[in-house]
Amino acid sequence: MRVKDALGLFEDNYVGRKLILHVLELLLHTEKSIGLDIFLYLEYDLSDALLDEIERLRYEYEVLMKPLAYVLGYELFCGERFEVDENVLIPRAETEYVVKYAVDSLQRMIDGFHQERKNILIDVGTGSGCVGISIMKECGDYFDRCYLLDISKEALKVAERNSTRILEEMGGSNEKVECLESDLLESLPLTIND
Ligand SMILES: C[S@@+](CC[C@H](N)C(=O)[O-])C[C@H]1O[C@@H](n2cnc3c(N)ncnc32)[C@H](O)[C@@H]1O
Repeated sequence: MRVKDALGLFEDNYVGRKLILHVLELLLHTEKSIGLDIFLYLEYDLSDALLDEIERLRYEYEVLMKPLAYVLGYELFCGERFEVDENVLIPRAETEYVVKYAVDSLQRMIDGFHQERKNILIDVGTGSGCVGISIMKECGDYFDRCYLLDISKEALKVAERNSTRILEEMGGSNEKVECLESDLLESLPLTIND
């Protein structure tokens, strides 16, 4: 079956394009779905194995009614691909405003930063890590340390993988990040005077 025929299997064309692109990405070993244009692949002949995978994803979305991000295994947030699974909240578009506000405020404050003191970023209830990691991505130089805290061990595994993948590529910021299981600030190895 060709890609254009496989699109017809989906109730929603947008979802069909996202899921088929996802399978094509796996085939092409690329994470660059943003640049991968399905219209270039409409005549592409899908193997049985790829069709089975497309059908599996379609079933999860249309029949099991899993959210699209959980079916894909990621959500885009602040220009990055954050891995998600059922243990974390799917990063919300509205939360990007929170990150933007924090980054803008930090950039305005930078000159006033106390260089003699440690600057520490703490993301409480980090989930996928999307907030803390995105702030570190933009302002990592200004922080000596970043704590991603969550009460859920499973969520922290996701945050840790996201932090490693997203920040390591940027050279160094990930070394400053620590994922900690913590009820609010309980396990934070700091006092307010640090
Ligand atoms: C609504 S999610 C937000 C996740 C992430 N900050 C985001 O914007 O996508 C809340 C997160 O807080 C965590 N959480 C709930 N109670 C907590 C507590 N007492 N201490 C630390 N984390 C907590 C949950 O496990 C969950 O991952």
